[in-house]
Amino acid sequence: MDKFRILGRETLSGTLPVSGSKNSSLPAIAACLLTEEPVILHRVPNVRDIATMLKLLEYNGASVERRADGSVRIEAAKITNPEAPYEIVKTMRASSLVLGPLAARTGVARVSVPGGCSIGARPINLHINGLEHLGAVVHQEHGYIEATVPNGLRGNNVHFERITVTGTEDLMMAAALAQGVTVLENAAREPEVVDLADLLTKMGARITGAGTSRIEIEGVSRLHGTEHTIIPDRIEAGTLLIAGIMTNSEVTVTDCFPGHFASLLSKLRQAGARVEESAKAVQVRPVTRLRSVDMTTEEHPGFATDLQAQFMALMTVSSGISFVTENIFENRFMHVPELSRMGANIRIEGRQAIVAGPSELTGAQVMCSDLRASASLVLAALVARGESILDRVYHMDRGYEKIEMKLAQAGARIERIG
Ligand code: EPZ
Repeated sequence: MDKFRILGRETLSGTLPVSGSKNSSLPAIAACLLTEEPVILHRVPNVRDIATMLKLLEYNGASVERRADGSVRIEAAKITNPEAPYEIVKTMRASSLVLGPLAARTGVARVSVPGGCSIGARPINLHINGLEHLGAVVHQEHGYIEATVPNGLRGNNVHFERITVTGTEDLMMAAALAQGVTVLENAAREPEVVDLADLLTKMGARITGAGTSRIEIEGVSRLHGTEHTIIPDRIEAGTLLIAGIMTNSEVTVTDCFPGHFASLLSKLRQAGARVEESAKAVQVRPVTRLRSVDMTTEEHPGFATDLQAQFMALMTVSSGISFVTENIFENRFMHVPELSRMGANIRIEGRQAIVAGPSELTGAQVMCSDLRASASLVLAALVARGESILDRVYHMDRGYEKIEMKLAQAGARIERIG
């Protein structure tokens, strides 16, 4: 069942609930390697990337229990296999998040070099440089990175020459068990970094500055088990919000933290959307016309690259010209040719896509290429005249929990077929 059939032009109503964050759950699961005691994580979304990460931890020797209530119990009492094999890493780059924890807990880590993916080369040189600053000896051969820590990890200053989310998370986890103090400069400020720091602190780590570009970690000798609830998925929240606006609906996106996607809310208001936020929900209301606005992706708190494709879909039905600039990844416009098949008017010039609107989108057969590109095709299909068939929706299943059921219960005509 790897296709969606969507009949466009239905308005939505009611509520669209947001699941726990995929990009917060992934480092949180890796952090469970840092202690031999059990850790219970609540609101872990049931998506493919999470299943891959849990499989990796079992491969390392941890016991993993997935519960019906959406929580996961992970106990890494013994690490029998400090390795992330190619078979697993090739399906999900974020597997490199076990590099720091394995090196810190066992003194050895062998991680397959993540190949590129459809949005870019995805190197992890900054993870490696950081670990070397903490005393790891790292070499690469046969497609694997091998890190050994002959004298234990030692705190040090690490300056990231480029802001990296999982690089910051990887180093924060390694530093938690290093001897002495580590300072991460030019660290990522994403909410998922803060959520990981909250979990590590509950496990006994000593961390200050998470959410700023300077994070200080005072290493401790051991960490203990705990329970933690994963933050809501801000990218899913933004995607559902754009679905409500594009279908000119009155809907409320619930179980979310609006402060985590303030830059999107600001852009939507600039475009003329009627958006009202409360502590854990955002309501949208119909408007007669949307204006095109320019948007540039940046590291948090700037506009999230993971919402670029979805925002572009919105701009195809807005009035005017929108310049969309992608500064984070080198190849994140894979959704453009597919949106064009539906009638969008988009021209790519290097890192910039120029979107002219409004276009009258029509349903078509289109191909999903990566997680967030797939989301933009769903959004376009929801407003297109006629039927759309989206192929290879397994890309969606990597990071969106039951998206077609959430949209269908709010009134969209979407179903999984073939
Ligand atoms: C995280 O990826 C997210 N994934 C991505 O979400 C997100 O798009 C990205 O951050 C940017 O916000 C997870 O959190 C699991 P980076 P990450 O390291 O950490 C370059 C999704 O759709 N770089 O912040 O891999 C890199 O090539 C996914 O849910 C190096 O050069 O991204 C990129 O151009 C996609 N060397 C830039 O930095 C390194 O060692 C930012 O990458 C690391 C990164």
